[in-house]
Amino acid sequence: MTLFRLDSSIRTEGSISRAVADTAEAAWRAEHPTGEIIRRDLGVEPLPSTSWPTAVLASWTPADQHTAAQLEAVALAARLGDELLAADSIIVAVPLYNWGISQHVKAWIDLLITDPRFGSGSETPLKGRSGLLVIARGGAYGEGTPRFGWDHATAYLSLILGEVWGLDLRVVEAELTLAEIVPAMADLKPLAAEFLATAHAAAATHGRDLGEQAAALASV
Ligand SMILES: Cc1cc2nc3c(=O)[nH]c(=O)nc-3n(C[C@H](O)[C@H](O)[C@H](O)COP(=O)(O)O)c2cc1C
Repeated sequence: MTLFRLDSSIRTEGSISRAVADTAEAAWRAEHPTGEIIRRDLGVEPLPSTSWPTAVLASWTPADQHTAAQLEAVALAARLGDELLAADSIIVAVPLYNWGISQHVKAWIDLLITDPRFGSGSETPLKGRSGLLVIARGGAYGEGTPRFGWDHATAYLSLILGEVWGLDLRVVEAELTLAEIVPAMADLKPLAAEFLATAHAAAATHGRDLGEQAAALASV
Protein backbone atom coordinates (compact mmCIF):
# COMPACT_ATOMS: atom_id res chain seq x y z
CA MET A 1 0.00 0.00 0.00
CA THR A 2 1.24 3.44 -0.87
CA LEU A 3 0.25 6.87 0.44
CA PHE A 4 1.13 10.09 -1.35
CA ARG A 5 1.34 13.16 0.88
CA LEU A 6 1.61 16.73 -0.30
CA ASP A 7 2.51 19.53 2.11
CA SER A 8 2.56 23.19 1.19
CA SER A 9 2.71 25.38 4.28
CA ILE A 10 5.62 27.78 4.02
CA ARG A 11 6.35 27.11 7.67
CA THR A 12 7.66 23.88 9.07
CA GLU A 13 7.31 24.90 12.75
CA GLY A 14 3.80 25.42 14.14
CA SER A 15 2.04 24.51 10.90
CA ILE A 16 -1.54 23.43 11.53
CA SER A 17 -2.05 21.89 8.09
CA ARG A 18 1.04 19.75 8.61
CA ALA A 19 -0.04 18.74 12.14
CA VAL A 20 -3.55 17.73 11.05
CA ALA A 21 -2.13 15.85 8.06
CA ASP A 22 0.29 14.11 10.49
CA THR A 23 -2.75 12.83 12.39
CA ALA A 24 -4.32 11.49 9.20
CA GLU A 25 -1.02 9.94 8.12
CA ALA A 26 -0.57 8.23 11.50
CA ALA A 27 -4.06 6.72 11.21
CA TRP A 28 -3.28 5.50 7.68
CA ARG A 29 0.06 4.15 8.93
CA ALA A 30 -1.70 2.20 11.69
CA GLU A 31 -3.62 0.38 8.95
CA HIS A 32 -0.49 -0.21 6.85
CA PRO A 33 2.58 -0.39 9.11
CA THR A 34 4.83 -1.46 6.23
CA GLY A 35 3.24 0.79 3.61
CA GLU A 36 5.25 3.24 1.55
CA ILE A 37 4.81 6.99 1.87
CA ILE A 38 5.73 9.23 -1.06
CA ARG A 39 6.20 12.85 0.02
CA ARG A 40 6.32 16.11 -1.84
CA ASP A 41 6.78 19.30 0.16
CA LEU A 42 6.04 22.41 -1.88
CA GLY A 43 6.57 24.66 1.14
CA VAL A 44 10.16 23.52 1.57
CA GLU A 45 10.94 22.77 -2.07
CA PRO A 46 8.71 24.71 -4.48
CA LEU A 47 8.57 23.70 -8.12
CA PRO A 48 10.28 26.11 -10.51
CA SER A 49 7.72 28.70 -11.62
CA THR A 50 9.00 28.46 -15.20
CA SER A 51 8.24 24.74 -15.51
CA TRP A 52 4.55 25.19 -16.28
CA PRO A 53 4.85 27.66 -19.21
CA THR A 54 7.78 25.66 -20.54
CA ALA A 55 5.79 22.42 -20.43
CA VAL A 56 2.81 24.11 -22.14
CA LEU A 57 5.08 25.39 -24.92
CA ALA A 58 6.55 21.89 -25.21
CA SER A 59 3.05 20.50 -25.79
CA TRP A 60 2.78 22.76 -28.87
CA THR A 61 6.19 21.71 -30.16
CA PRO A 62 7.03 18.46 -32.01
CA ALA A 63 8.78 16.10 -29.60
CA ASP A 64 11.95 15.92 -31.71
CA GLN A 65 12.28 19.71 -31.50
CA HIS A 66 12.00 20.05 -27.69
CA THR A 67 14.61 22.25 -26.08
CA ALA A 68 16.56 21.00 -23.05
CA ALA A 69 14.37 23.15 -20.80
CA GLN A 70 11.21 21.71 -22.37
CA LEU A 71 12.49 18.15 -21.93
CA GLU A 72 13.18 18.92 -18.27
CA ALA A 73 9.76 20.49 -17.66
CA VAL A 74 7.93 17.60 -19.36
CA ALA A 75 9.95 15.10 -17.32
CA LEU A 76 9.11 16.94 -14.10
CA ALA A 77 5.39 16.93 -14.94
CA ALA A 78 5.61 13.19 -15.63
CA ARG A 79 7.39 12.64 -12.30
CA LEU A 80 4.60 14.47 -10.44
CA GLY A 81 2.04 12.35 -12.26
CA ASP A 82 3.94 9.14 -11.46
CA GLU A 83 3.95 10.07 -7.76
CA LEU A 84 0.17 10.36 -7.69
CA LEU A 85 -0.49 7.31 -9.83
CA ALA A 86 1.78 5.19 -7.63
CA ALA A 87 -0.42 5.92 -4.61
CA ASP A 88 -3.49 4.10 -3.34
CA SER A 89 -4.40 6.99 -1.03
CA ILE A 90 -3.61 10.70 -1.22
CA ILE A 91 -3.37 13.42 1.45
CA VAL A 92 -3.06 17.05 0.36
CA ALA A 93 -2.36 19.61 3.12
CA VAL A 94 -2.84 23.25 2.21
CA PRO A 95 -3.05 26.59 4.03
CA LEU A 96 -5.36 29.40 2.92
CA TYR A 97 -3.13 32.22 1.70
CA ASN A 98 -4.61 35.54 0.57
CA TRP A 99 -8.05 33.94 0.25
CA GLY A 100 -6.77 31.33 -2.17
CA ILE A 101 -4.06 28.75 -2.70
CA SER A 102 -0.35 29.49 -2.76
CA GLN A 103 1.39 29.90 -6.07
CA HIS A 104 3.29 26.72 -5.16
CA VAL A 105 0.14 24.61 -5.08
CA LYS A 106 -1.17 26.24 -8.26
CA ALA A 107 2.16 25.51 -9.97
CA TRP A 108 1.89 21.84 -8.92
CA ILE A 109 -1.66 21.55 -10.28
CA ASP A 110 -0.91 23.45 -13.50
CA LEU A 111 2.21 21.42 -14.21
CA LEU A 112 0.37 18.15 -13.55
CA ILE A 113 -2.33 19.20 -16.01
CA THR A 114 0.30 19.48 -18.74
CA ASP A 115 0.86 15.74 -18.32
CA PRO A 116 -1.46 14.00 -20.83
CA ARG A 117 -2.61 11.62 -18.08
CA PHE A 118 -3.89 14.54 -15.96
CA GLY A 119 -4.91 17.07 -18.62
CA SER A 120 -8.26 18.10 -20.02
CA GLY A 121 -8.49 15.11 -22.38
CA SER A 122 -7.84 12.62 -19.58
CA GLU A 123 -10.53 10.69 -17.77
CA THR A 124 -10.36 11.19 -13.99
CA PRO A 125 -6.90 9.57 -13.61
CA LEU A 126 -7.28 9.03 -9.86
CA LYS A 127 -10.77 7.55 -10.04
CA GLY A 128 -11.50 5.07 -7.30
CA ARG A 129 -8.61 6.20 -5.07
CA SER A 130 -9.34 7.80 -1.75
CA GLY A 131 -8.13 11.28 -0.88
CA LEU A 132 -8.10 13.75 1.96
CA LEU A 133 -7.77 17.51 1.64
CA VAL A 134 -6.62 19.24 4.83
CA ILE A 135 -7.01 23.01 4.79
CA ALA A 136 -5.90 25.42 7.53
CA ARG A 137 -7.36 28.92 7.64
CA GLY A 138 -6.41 31.76 9.92
CA GLY A 139 -9.93 33.18 10.00
CA ALA A 140 -13.41 31.74 9.83
CA TYR A 141 -15.42 31.47 6.64
CA GLY A 142 -18.58 29.58 7.55
CA GLU A 143 -22.07 30.76 6.68
CA GLY A 144 -22.97 33.83 8.72
CA THR A 145 -19.38 35.00 9.19
CA PRO A 146 -18.38 38.37 7.68
CA ARG A 147 -16.11 36.67 5.15
CA PHE A 148 -18.38 33.86 4.13
CA GLY A 149 -17.53 33.10 0.49
CA TRP A 150 -14.02 34.56 0.66
CA ASP A 151 -12.28 31.15 0.81
CA HIS A 152 -11.42 30.56 -2.83
CA ALA A 153 -9.18 27.58 -2.09
CA THR A 154 -11.43 24.82 -0.79
CA ALA A 155 -13.94 24.73 -3.66
CA TYR A 156 -11.17 25.01 -6.26
CA LEU A 157 -9.08 22.21 -4.73
CA SER A 158 -12.17 20.02 -4.32
CA LEU A 159 -12.94 20.59 -7.99
CA ILE A 160 -9.46 19.60 -9.16
CA LEU A 161 -8.90 16.67 -6.80
CA GLY A 162 -12.46 15.35 -6.79
CA GLU A 163 -14.14 16.28 -10.07
CA VAL A 164 -11.21 16.62 -12.47
CA TRP A 165 -8.92 13.90 -11.15
CA GLY A 166 -11.64 11.67 -9.70
CA LEU A 167 -10.50 11.17 -6.11
CA ASP A 168 -13.07 9.99 -3.61
CA LEU A 169 -12.37 13.09 -1.54
CA ARG A 170 -12.89 14.02 2.10
CA VAL A 171 -12.15 17.49 3.43
CA VAL A 172 -10.94 18.51 6.90
CA GLU A 173 -10.97 22.22 7.72
CA ALA A 174 -9.11 23.82 10.64
CA GLU A 175 -10.31 27.38 11.14
CA LEU A 176 -9.33 30.35 13.31
CA THR A 177 -5.75 29.14 13.45
CA LEU A 178 -4.54 32.74 13.87
CA ALA A 179 -6.43 33.11 17.17
CA GLU A 180 -3.39 31.86 19.07
CA ILE A 181 -1.12 34.60 17.74
CA VAL A 182 -3.28 37.59 16.77
CA PRO A 183 -4.16 39.63 19.90
CA ALA A 184 -7.41 40.93 18.35
CA MET A 185 -8.59 37.31 18.07
CA ALA A 186 -7.82 36.38 21.69
CA ASP A 187 -11.52 35.93 22.54
CA LEU A 188 -11.74 33.27 19.85
CA LYS A 189 -9.03 31.04 21.35
CA PRO A 190 -11.47 28.57 22.99
CA LEU A 191 -13.44 28.22 19.76
CA ALA A 192 -10.20 27.81 17.78
CA ALA A 193 -9.10 25.04 20.19
CA GLU A 194 -12.46 23.33 19.69
CA PHE A 195 -12.15 23.58 15.89
CA LEU A 196 -8.62 22.19 16.03
CA ALA A 197 -9.62 19.22 18.17
CA THR A 198 -12.49 18.50 15.77
CA ALA A 199 -10.12 18.72 12.80
CA HIS A 200 -7.67 16.24 14.37
CA ALA A 201 -10.49 13.83 15.24
CA ALA A 202 -11.84 14.02 11.68
CA ALA A 203 -8.34 13.56 10.25
CA ALA A 204 -7.85 10.43 12.36
CA THR A 205 -11.14 9.00 11.13
CA HIS A 206 -10.46 9.85 7.50
CA GLY A 207 -6.87 8.62 7.64
CA ARG A 208 -8.11 5.26 8.87
CA ASP A 209 -10.83 5.21 6.22
CA LEU A 210 -8.28 5.96 3.50
CA GLY A 211 -6.22 2.99 4.65
CA GLU A 212 -9.22 0.68 4.88
CA GLN A 213 -10.61 1.75 1.52
CA ALA A 214 -7.29 1.17 -0.22
CA ALA A 215 -6.96 -2.28 1.34
CA ALA A 216 -10.51 -3.19 0.32
CA LEU A 217 -9.87 -2.09 -3.27
CA ALA A 218 -6.63 -4.05 -3.43
CA SER A 219 -8.35 -7.22 -2.27
CA VAL A 220 -11.02 -7.07 -5.01
C1 LIG B 1 1.07 35.12 3.63
C2 LIG B 1 -0.12 34.63 4.40
C3 LIG B 1 -1.38 34.88 3.92
C4 LIG B 1 -2.49 34.44 4.63
N1 LIG B 1 -3.74 34.69 4.15
C5 LIG B 1 -4.82 34.28 4.83
C6 LIG B 1 -6.14 34.52 4.35
O1 LIG B 1 -6.35 35.09 3.29
N2 LIG B 1 -7.17 34.12 5.10
C7 LIG B 1 -6.99 33.45 6.29
O2 LIG B 1 -7.99 33.07 6.93
N3 LIG B 1 -5.76 33.18 6.76
C8 LIG B 1 -4.69 33.58 6.06
N4 LIG B 1 -3.44 33.30 6.53
C9 LIG B 1 -3.31 32.52 7.75
C10 LIG B 1 -3.10 31.05 7.41
O3 LIG B 1 -4.16 30.54 6.64
C11 LIG B 1 -3.03 30.25 8.71
O4 LIG B 1 -1.97 30.74 9.51
C12 LIG B 1 -2.85 28.77 8.46
O5 LIG B 1 -2.88 28.10 9.69
C13 LIG B 1 -1.53 28.52 7.74
O6 LIG B 1 -1.31 27.15 7.56
P1 LIG B 1 -0.20 26.40 8.44
O7 LIG B 1 -0.66 26.55 9.89
O8 LIG B 1 -0.21 25.00 7.98
O9 LIG B 1 1.10 27.09 8.23
C14 LIG B 1 -2.32 33.73 5.83
C15 LIG B 1 -1.02 33.47 6.29
C16 LIG B 1 0.06 33.90 5.59
C17 LIG B 1 1.43 33.59 6.09
